[in-house]
Amino acid sequence: MELNWRELSVLLVIFAASSTSGTTCPNKCKCSANFATISCQHQQLSQIPDGIPIQAHQLYLGYNLITRLPENSFSTLVNLTEISLKNNELVEIQAGAFSGLARLKYLYLTQNSLKLIGDRAFDGLVSLQQLHLQQNQLIQVPNLSAMSSLTRLSFANNKLKSIKIETNPPVTLRSLVFSNNPINKISADDFAPLKNCSLTKVDLSRCDLKSLEPGAFGNFPHLQSLSVSYNSNLQLAAIASLIKDLANSSVLFALDISGSISEEIPPNMFSSLQSVKLKQLSLSHTTKCKVLQNGTFSGLPSLNFLDLSHSDIEQIETGAFFGLKDLQRLDMQNLNLGRVPYFPLPTLQQLNLNHN
Ligand SMILES: *[C@@H]1O[C@H](CO)[C@@H](O)[C@H](O)[C@H]1NC(C)=O
Ligand SMILES: *[C@@H]1O[C@H](CO)[C@@H](O)[C@H](O)[C@H]1NC(C)=O
Ligand SMILES: *[C@@H]1O[C@H](CO)[C@@H](O)[C@H](O)[C@H]1NC(C)=O
Ligand SMILES: *[C@@H]1O[C@H](CO)[C@@H](O)[C@H](O)[C@H]1NC(C)=O
Ligand SMILES: *[C@@H]1O[C@H](CO)[C@@H](O)[C@H](O)[C@H]1NC(C)=O
Repeated sequence: MELNWRELSVLLVIFAASSTSGTTCPNKCKCSANFATISCQHQQLSQIPDGIPIQAHQLYLGYNLITRLPENSFSTLVNLTEISLKNNELVEIQAGAFSGLARLKYLYLTQNSLKLIGDRAFDGLVSLQQLHLQQNQLIQVPNLSAMSSLTRLSFANNKLKSIKIETNPPVTLRSLVFSNNPINKISADDFAPLKNCSLTKVDLSRCDLKSLEPGAFGNFPHLQSLSVSYNSNLQLAAIASLIKDLANSSVLFALDISGSISEEIPPNMFSSLQSVKLKQLSLSHTTKCKVLQNGTFSGLPSLNFLDLSHSDIEQIETGAFFGLKDLQRLDMQNLNLGRVPYFPLPTLQQLNLNHN
């Protein structure tokens, strides 16, 4: 093996650092020069290796075979800010598994086999900002209340049947992702425990939603982005009631209803959004809506981007786009239009009419 001077000096620094502090890198792991980053990925580990240096800030344990996290799994590693246990075989997180980790900000538990998480599993994680639980088998929302700084939470790709958070959720919560869970129904009070949070993003795409009770989405004054896309069994009446609920979400920026409408869109559908500054609306993959009627978008004067692509629309009435005073991008690729519709849209910058 030939080393140039630069590589050799890096190695000398690593050697010097490890020999002076007496710290060594655990077997099967790679450690950065100052032991800030410890990476033990793809090693077929069935438990957390012994002797992880206490200086560690980031600990990457992904792509192993770890099944359980016992109490105090990391308790000496007080300066950890990030742990990844992505793609392991976790089925159990015991109470107090993360205790001592008062500085942890990011926890990745993505791609495991967690079905239930016990009530005190997250105790001690007072600085945690992001909890990633995507791609597990969860059937119940765990107790989140210990994580008093949590801002982002993802349950995407689990088996949750309800979005209801039984224990007090942290008021810091901003972004909540539930996409790809068999939720079916959202009741009027399901979001009630979240009323004290300033939620800015909610993702309910691909949840096989069938019904949304009126009022379920009311009173989210800070909401910026909402997706209920690809819920193809959702009744139009439910979507209409959702849109009415959003009348007071005055900072709502993006609304994604792609793949969820399979009826003619009534022309008053968005009229309740007059005082909402909606900028992006996606209605792509809308089926069985043949005609866009006059005035359909008249309640959306701030809209910048309208996506109507990949839908069954055959005809756009002359006044359908009236009121879109700020529209810059209009995507109408893959519709069934027989002729170019009339657009009185002076602000338009991008128009896609491919495949009609
Ligand atoms: C943890 O970080 C603090 C503040 O940076 C430092 O004083 C302390 O020595 C660190 N502890 C360990 C075990 O490295
Ligand atoms: C949820 O966790 C908090 C904080 O650890 C704890 O005080 C509370 O008792 C737990 N709730 C339940 C229902 O176990
Ligand atoms: C919201 O905050 C108020 C005032 O702090 C409190 O009384 C109420 O129980 C809280 N609601 C929820 C659902 O946490
Ligand atoms: C909007 O807020 C007003 C005033 O607080 C309230 O009367 C109305 O019911 C709210 N509308 C919705 C849809 O939540
Ligand atoms: C739609 O609006 C245009 C322009 O105002 C008008 O000429 C047309 O008759 C209207 N179409 C229908 C079906 O009301």
